[in-house]
Amino acid sequence: MLQVQVFQKTAEAVDISSFELRAVGTEPLPPFSPGSHIDVCMANGVTRQYSLCNSPEERHRYVIGVLKDPSSRGGSIAMHENIEVGQIISISEPRNLFPLEESGKKHLLFAGGIGITPMLAMAHALAVLDADFELHYCFRSIDRAAFAGALQESPFRERVYLHDDSGADEQKLNAKQFLGQIEPDVHLYVCGPSGFMNHILDTAASCGWPKEQVHREYFAATAIDHEGDQPFEVELAISGQVLQIPADRSVFEVLDEAGIEIPSSCEQGVCGSCITRVLQGVPDHRDQFMTPAEQARNDQFTPCCSRSKSPRLVLDL
Ligand code: FES
Repeated sequence: MLQVQVFQKTAEAVDISSFELRAVGTEPLPPFSPGSHIDVCMANGVTRQYSLCNSPEERHRYVIGVLKDPSSRGGSIAMHENIEVGQIISISEPRNLFPLEESGKKHLLFAGGIGITPMLAMAHALAVLDADFELHYCFRSIDRAAFAGALQESPFRERVYLHDDSGADEQKLNAKQFLGQIEPDVHLYVCGPSGFMNHILDTAASCGWPKEQVHREYFAATAIDHEGDQPFEVELAISGQVLQIPADRSVFEVLDEAGIEIPSSCEQGVCGSCITRVLQGVPDHRDQFMTPAEQARNDQFTPCCSRSKSPRLVLDL
């Protein structure tokens, strides 16, 4: 963990504040790549992830933007109400689950609401690289559009498109207009509330975007209700081995114990690293990574948090 000091706290929009965190001492902060987040540990014992939104070129500070969520379970409200300038707080080193595809020849960034935060760092980085990109920022109304002013004054402002849901029809986002044409090496990045993300991701899928060119980041997982969880079996198609998944353990844990290695990162259904092909059976999807349309195909699932509706799942392992 790192100790940092809150250097500045700024009201950026209705219910959104930014926090500028600086190193305690003279050492620069660990470097980060665009799309990275940090874990912030609060005095109430709650840890929350927030994307870094400043330029990755900067080593003297991390900037995060925090939406005050009325359904907060101790995270965002504590940030808004309890964290003040001068306080020392503990954070993790930056981690990146939403990296830029640097070999891409063009990048389309779609942000909804507070989903603008990782996109800001990406836009800064792409501008430094003189890369070809567009940033589409959708928000409910201009008073809720954090960082919109800074974007309009940024050196890359001609690449920024603001879409105000409460504004004139002609400036509202028509996703198909921007996603209708697919070219190799053009990459799409999406971050925002789940309704927004599903809309963009479903539009991209209906236009035929290949999965490898679509990148997404969901916010931290919402709590999963484990009441009523039942045991089930998992069969590994390659070896025929059958594993019992107890009601209180995840498929990932049981596979890991059996020596079956699956890539993982968030372990809460938001990053997609553990996605595994399902050959038979019906998963009980608990992740926030796949869209409802992707989940409905039932041909893959996230073993870190998802379970099974059928007595057995056959996995392509
Ligand atoms: S490890 Fe992140 S979705 Fe499973």
